[in-house]
Amino acid sequence: MEKNENRYLETTRPAMYRALKYWGKKPHNIWNEIICEYSKPMDIIFDPFAGSGLTFFESIKAGRFPIVSDINPLTNFLVDVYSSSIDYRELNNYFDKITKSVCSIKTYKDTYLCKCKKCGNETDIYNYLFEKDVCTKISYKCKHCGATISEPINHIPECEELKFWLPNYDISNFQTICKSTLERFGGADIKNIWPKNALQILSAIFHYISITPEPYRKVLTFAFLQTVHLTTKMCAARSEKTNRPLSTSWGRPAYMYLKNRLEQNPLIQFKRAFSGPNGIVNAFNSRDTYLKPYKYSSEVLFSNSISGISLYGDAKSLQLPEKSVDLIITDPPYGNIIQYGELCVIWNVWLTKMYPQYRIDLTDEIIVKDENSENKYVLDMVSVFNVCKTILKDKGKCILTFNSNRIKDWELILTSIKNSGFNIVDYFSQNNLRSSEANVAAKTGQAISDYYIILSKSGRDKSDNLKQIVFSKLGV
Ligand SMILES: C[S@@+](CC[C@H](N)C(=O)[O-])C[C@H]1O[C@@H](n2cnc3c(N)ncnc32)[C@H](O)[C@@H]1O
Ligand SMILES: [Zn+2]
Repeated sequence: MEKNENRYLETTRPAMYRALKYWGKKPHNIWNEIICEYSKPMDIIFDPFAGSGLTFFESIKAGRFPIVSDINPLTNFLVDVYSSSIDYRELNNYFDKITKSVCSIKTYKDTYLCKCKKCGNETDIYNYLFEKDVCTKISYKCKHCGATISEPINHIPECEELKFWLPNYDISNFQTICKSTLERFGGADIKNIWPKNALQILSAIFHYISITPEPYRKVLTFAFLQTVHLTTKMCAARSEKTNRPLSTSWGRPAYMYLKNRLEQNPLIQFKRAFSGPNGIVNAFNSRDTYLKPYKYSSEVLFSNSISGISLYGDAKSLQLPEKSVDLIITDPPYGNIIQYGELCVIWNVWLTKMYPQYRIDLTDEIIVKDENSENKYVLDMVSVFNVCKTILKDKGKCILTFNSNRIKDWELILTSIKNSGFNIVDYFSQNNLRSSEANVAAKTGQAISDYYIILSKSGRDKSDNLKQIVFSKLGV
């Protein structure tokens, strides 16, 4: 009998996967086990929708050769960053240089320094607390005596305008932001997502990174990108009961304006993104140990500086040699819960300025936005499946994950598969420990499982069985 549930057990994510914020990250170890089970060492593994880069890194770990692509430049950038060889001392030196330069800006001192209530020394303000849009408190962890202090304040000093580059991008048509939210932000430009003071300091950090030599510029840009969403007007203050005045998060699948929020000091966030638990220093250390060649990896693969290929662009128009790929594993876009392209603008406005080879492309993104785009979704997915069929070897498998509690989403993906001529030869469901797209939308505590669907150019088609199981689970 086939085992159609929980073939694998998810484990804890290493730091290298925690550094990049991305929605719907798949379990790294399960990805690895599937790659090992369905391919041989040195095989070529392809992922057209690579997201946070799982297929790239897990293929390398398994001694396979990855080819990945994504229309989101963050994927290509991340692979590029993690492929860099860096000298940690140099990295620290550049980091110190940037933080010192920002600290010495008068406007930083005026806005983000205060006297510690306990020891009287000057220290950095971590955040301003806003309650119902009124600034009521500052919090800091004193760098001299270590005390964590929150104290009342009745105004926030206004940062002088610096002369550095500021991002701009029209967000008036975004699905992930409603009209009234836009007004509260203060206009339909992405720059209004950041409080004025924070934006000035971000622009200064960004400037000093931009004059740092490579590869440190890109590594520090990566840390910078982990700073930008945590310094917006979207950072919720935790309730006083939790006693965590210095911490916040943003992971919602929509832009939102919060009246009760923390306006965080970008320099402190940048320091955390550098050396905090989920910071890039830990991420690089984790990469160094985690990606150490597996026992199967041949010397050829790793003595070569190219251990994989990351393409940046639209999967529909990818051109790779026919029948060259041994296995495809991917997590395709589906449904309308996560609008990756829109949500990632918050990072990509900065990234595309630092690295102009990238652009923000919301036109070619495959995504269901509304009922009108459902047909287009099917056509687009069929195009990608056709690319997959062409480049896959005849006996190769194409494995995809899928999960949705909406019948419509299932119909769209099953139709796309059918229209492409692929057969569903196997499938299983797999419980998730953590966030996937559906989990983001689900009520907390609700267990959501992913389906792993195995496609092949030939073999008995079991799409009707899968359909029956899924539809009966969804009560149809
Ligand atoms: C469900 S996510 C993949 C997330 C991934 N499993 C992870 O672990 O991070 C789908 C991805 O498809 C990408 N995408 C959407 N349209 C695309 C297109 N036309 N070409 C290439 N990638 C596209 C999105 O940018 C997004 O990263
Ligand atoms: Zn102190």
